[in-house]
Amino acid sequence: MTQAWWKEAVVYQIYPRSFMDGNGDGIGDLAGITSRLDYLQELGIDVIWLSPVYKSPNDDNGYDISDYRDIMDEFGTMEQFDTMLEEAHRRGIKIMMDLVVNHSSDEHAWFMEARKSKDNPYRDYYIWRPGREGGGAPNNWVSCFGGSAWEYDAQTDEYYLHLFTRKQPDLNWENPRLRREVYDLMTFWLDKGIDGFRMDVINFISKVEGLPDAALQEGAEYAWGGEYFLNGPRIHDYLQEMNREVLSRYPVMTVGEMPGATVEEAKLYTGLQRNELQMVFHFEHVNVGDGKFGKWTPNPWKLTELKAILSKWQYGLREDGWNSLYWSNHDQPRAVSRFASDKEEYRFVSATMLATCLHLHQGTPYIYQGEEIGMTNVAFDSIEDYRDVETLNAYRDLAGTGKLTHEQMMDGIHQRSRDNGRTPVQWSNAPHGGFTTGTPWIAVNPNFTHINMEQSRQDPDSIYHYYRALIRLRKANPIMVYGDYDLLLENDEQIYAFTRTLDAEKWLVLCNFSDQTVLFSAPEELASYTADQLIIGNYESNGDETLGSITLRPYETRVYRLGNET
Ligand code: NOJ
Repeated sequence: MTQAWWKEAVVYQIYPRSFMDGNGDGIGDLAGITSRLDYLQELGIDVIWLSPVYKSPNDDNGYDISDYRDIMDEFGTMEQFDTMLEEAHRRGIKIMMDLVVNHSSDEHAWFMEARKSKDNPYRDYYIWRPGREGGGAPNNWVSCFGGSAWEYDAQTDEYYLHLFTRKQPDLNWENPRLRREVYDLMTFWLDKGIDGFRMDVINFISKVEGLPDAALQEGAEYAWGGEYFLNGPRIHDYLQEMNREVLSRYPVMTVGEMPGATVEEAKLYTGLQRNELQMVFHFEHVNVGDGKFGKWTPNPWKLTELKAILSKWQYGLREDGWNSLYWSNHDQPRAVSRFASDKEEYRFVSATMLATCLHLHQGTPYIYQGEEIGMTNVAFDSIEDYRDVETLNAYRDLAGTGKLTHEQMMDGIHQRSRDNGRTPVQWSNAPHGGFTTGTPWIAVNPNFTHINMEQSRQDPDSIYHYYRALIRLRKANPIMVYGDYDLLLENDEQIYAFTRTLDAEKWLVLCNFSDQTVLFSAPEELASYTADQLIIGNYESNGDETLGSITLRPYETRVYRLGNET
C-alpha cells in the first residue's frame, strides 16, 4: 500500500464559532484558536480542519461566503489568521481550510452583480432560469433546508437555484470563468501556506442538464432532486481539472464532503491514479436509524447495520482509495449520545470505546472538538434556544404544519439537531465553561460543571488522556494506519470485533456497544491465535485473557496483539 503523511495523520476539527472566544464578544474566533494551540499540540493531533472563517453574513454560520479572500469580522483579521497559521506550523500542526464552492453567499460581489441584469458578466456564475409556463419555480426540487430550491428575483424576472438557503445561491460550474475563479482563490490560500482543503458538498457541483423535475412523493409539494445533482455528469472532469490546475502543485490534504456517495463512487474520487481527491466523507453510517422525516424522526438502529456499512467501506477502499473516519462533526450530534451512551455512569467507557473503534479502522481519523472530553448532546427546552437554520426551518416545516407534534419534533431535535455539536467547547467550570467572558451566541451545555477540559486534563484516567494514548499508539504502530481490516462476528448485535493485519502482525479489536456484560468467544478464524499483549483498553483487566472466553463489561473495548498458538 502507498504510504502518505495524510494517511498517518490525525485530524481535529474546529468549528470556530464554538471553539474559543478570544475577545469576550461571545463568539469563538481566531485569537481564541491561537490561544489553544498548545493544548492541541499536547493532544497530539497533526492537522486542524478549520470550518469556514471567510467573510460571511452568517446565514449558515460561515457556509455562506461573501468574500473568499477575507476573514469574517467576528472571527478577527487576516493578520490574526496569519498568526494562527504560523503558530500552528511552529507546533507541527497543519491547517486544512474549508472550501465552500457549491454555493456562495447572495451577498458575494459576484451575486450582487449577477442579479443586476441578464447580460451582466457575472450572470452565468450562478444558475438562473425563467419560471415554468403558467408560473412557479423552474422545477420541483426541494432545498436541503426546506422549501423550494428556487428563489424568484423580481429585478430580472427569473429564478436562481439554491440547494441550501436562499442566501446560498448555487455556483454554475459549467462556466469556465467561474471555475478559474475558484482555482485562483484556492491558490491564494495555498500560497499563504495552508495545507489542504475539506470541500463542502463538493459532489453537488455538477447538475444534470435541463434540471429535470424529480419524482414527487405522494402529497408532497417538493421533491428531492439528488439524482440530478449528486455525483453529477461532469463531477470527475471538474475535480480532475481542479487537481491539475491547483492541487497537484502543492503537498496538500484533501477530503470531499459527499452526501450520497457510494463506495463505487468513492473509488473514483479517491483512487490513486484518478488524480481527484484523497478522501471523501460519506454519510451512510451517520444516517442509521433515520425515519419517516429523516433524522427528525429517528428510529433505533442495529449494530449489525453499522458494522455492515463501515465494513463495506473498509473492504471497498482496501486496495485503492482511502477512508476518512468520523463519528461526529458540526452537522452531527455528539458521538457518545448518538452511538453509545451519554449516561454519566457510562460516559467514560462509551467515549473511549467509540474512539478505539474508530481509530482502529483503516483510514484517517477525525476528532470533532469536544469529542476528546466526551461532550454530550444538549436538550434545550425551548426552540428559542436553538440557532441552527436547518433546525429552525425543520421545526417550522414539521411542527409548524402539524406533521409532527411539538414534543415529537423536540425529541428529534434533542437527538439529532446540528446544534448538539455546536454548543461551545467546555474548557473549565468557570461561567459559560470558560468559553467566553461575554454572553455566548448559543448557550453552553449545563453539564460543563463536570464535563470540561480542565477536569479531563487533570485526571490521568480521563477520556482526554485516553485519546492522547490512542494517538501516540498510531504514531508508533503502522498497523493502525496500513493494516488490513477484517470483520469478525458480523451478526453479533452487541460486539463489534475485527482484526487488523500488517505482514506478520495481527491485532484484535473488541468493542462492546451495549450496556450489558457479554461474552466474546473467538470465532474459527482465530483458532490458532493467542492474546499475547493487551495494547489498550478502557477497564482494569479482569484476568480473562484467553481468546475463547473474554468477558466484556458495558462498553468495554480491548485491543490485543495476537500471537501464534505453539
Ligand atoms: C455542509 C456543511 O457541513 C454544513 O454545515 C452546511 O450547512 C452545508 N454543507 C451547506 O454549506
